[in-house]
Amino acid sequence: MTRRKPVADLIADNGQGSGGALRRTMGMWQLTMISIGATLGTGIFVVLGEAVPLAGPAVTLAFIIAGITALLSALSYAELAGMIPVAGSSYSYAYATIGELGAWVCGWCLLLEYGVSVAAVAVGWGQYVNELLQLVLGVALPEALSAPPGDGGLLNLPAAVVVVLAMVALLGGARESARINAIMVGIKTLTLVLFCAIAFSAVKAGNYSPLLPLGMGGVSAAAGKLFFSYIGFDAASTAGSEARNPQRDLPRAIMLSLGLVTVLYCLVALAAVGAMHWTHFDGTEAALSKVLGGTTGSVLLSAGAIVAVASVVLAVLYGQTRILFAMSRDGLVPELFSRVDPRTGVPRANTLVVSTFIAVLAAVVPLGELADATSIGTLFAFALVNVAVLVLRRRQPDLHRTFRTPLVPLTPVLGVLSCAWLMLSLGSATWLAFALWMAVGLLVYFGYGRGHSTLSQASPESDAMIR
Ligand code: ALA
Repeated sequence: MTRRKPVADLIADNGQGSGGALRRTMGMWQLTMISIGATLGTGIFVVLGEAVPLAGPAVTLAFIIAGITALLSALSYAELAGMIPVAGSSYSYAYATIGELGAWVCGWCLLLEYGVSVAAVAVGWGQYVNELLQLVLGVALPEALSAPPGDGGLLNLPAAVVVVLAMVALLGGARESARINAIMVGIKTLTLVLFCAIAFSAVKAGNYSPLLPLGMGGVSAAAGKLFFSYIGFDAASTAGSEARNPQRDLPRAIMLSLGLVTVLYCLVALAAVGAMHWTHFDGTEAALSKVLGGTTGSVLLSAGAIVAVASVVLAVLYGQTRILFAMSRDGLVPELFSRVDPRTGVPRANTLVVSTFIAVLAAVVPLGELADATSIGTLFAFALVNVAVLVLRRRQPDLHRTFRTPLVPLTPVLGVLSCAWLMLSLGSATWLAFALWMAVGLLVYFGYGRGHSTLSQASPESDAMIR
């Protein structure tokens, strides 16, 4: 359980699946786009509207606080992604540092961060499609086809459709998917820039005061909520085996995407509360449309949100398949997940299985129950990444690092503490769900992964070396 996979072995196995290897086609720009693609979505289009009633005009401060929390872990991600540039993201980092059981737990958490969050955002996509249909054509999908059973319908058809569309793009190849993602990132960024331009021209200085109507308590509650909007900056690190120059480009892509997203979030928040008094934000989904007012603004925002959330689905689904690829290559999940199609260089069976599972999940499970589960799993995985930086700095201080987290051990320690603090702010039902999820994960590990691990097949001498 504590056997570790040496960094050199992780790098040597890099991207090699059964049937072929993943292809190195992505440069820094595409990697940055993957992270922005996975990050910028429901958080800014939807959660902002729920955060303003908590923080008032100081919602920008809440974005900054949540951004700093994300930054602490992003610095650790950047160091490890530059040092261990392979497909599995934090799962692989944990395998090199904490050991196999820790890596399994991390990978199991990533299933929540990636797999379950795709389902959650796909559900939100369905709501925007319905809104746009209503605005433009005056019709909406019947309730039975646009909501899961728990929410009064039969299934959420649009949610399943967007997952299937993303699957089709991914099956075409990583380079093609990255291109489609980059176009969508361009559109969603442009939508938000346009929003800022219109909203800033309607700012009334009086809307900014009082700045803290509900005190710092409100701001920190809003920051906890807004952390969701930063989840995904780590997506580039799942592409380690498909990057042309991962050591150099992964740390840059992670930091650049987080920086760009933070600036955009702060500008949008500043513009939104400047143009519309904070008390008019009623916690509903269409907050940004309401700021612009009128049908044109609403159509623009809904169309932007549809593209934004579709690109989150594409980038996060991509990440999920590559994490399972790495776990499968190490023998912890069946070989099917690391089978590479020699023609396209895509883990085809993996993509089909993962997409089908997520499409069904998105179609039949209500969103709310998924979103909190996503946050707790993500935060746990982030905490492990911060621990991994501390462990490797101690154990292998001389390993070549293309990016060094500043102020170690302070930064990773603060990273762990901030993750723990945000985890503690989540409700007891979420913790219970998390405990159950972990219990199932441990059963799978002891029932399958431990015995099938490629390290368990290593000779006793090499096993001793690994320890
Ligand atoms: N950060 C992603 C979003 O806001 C999960 O949609």
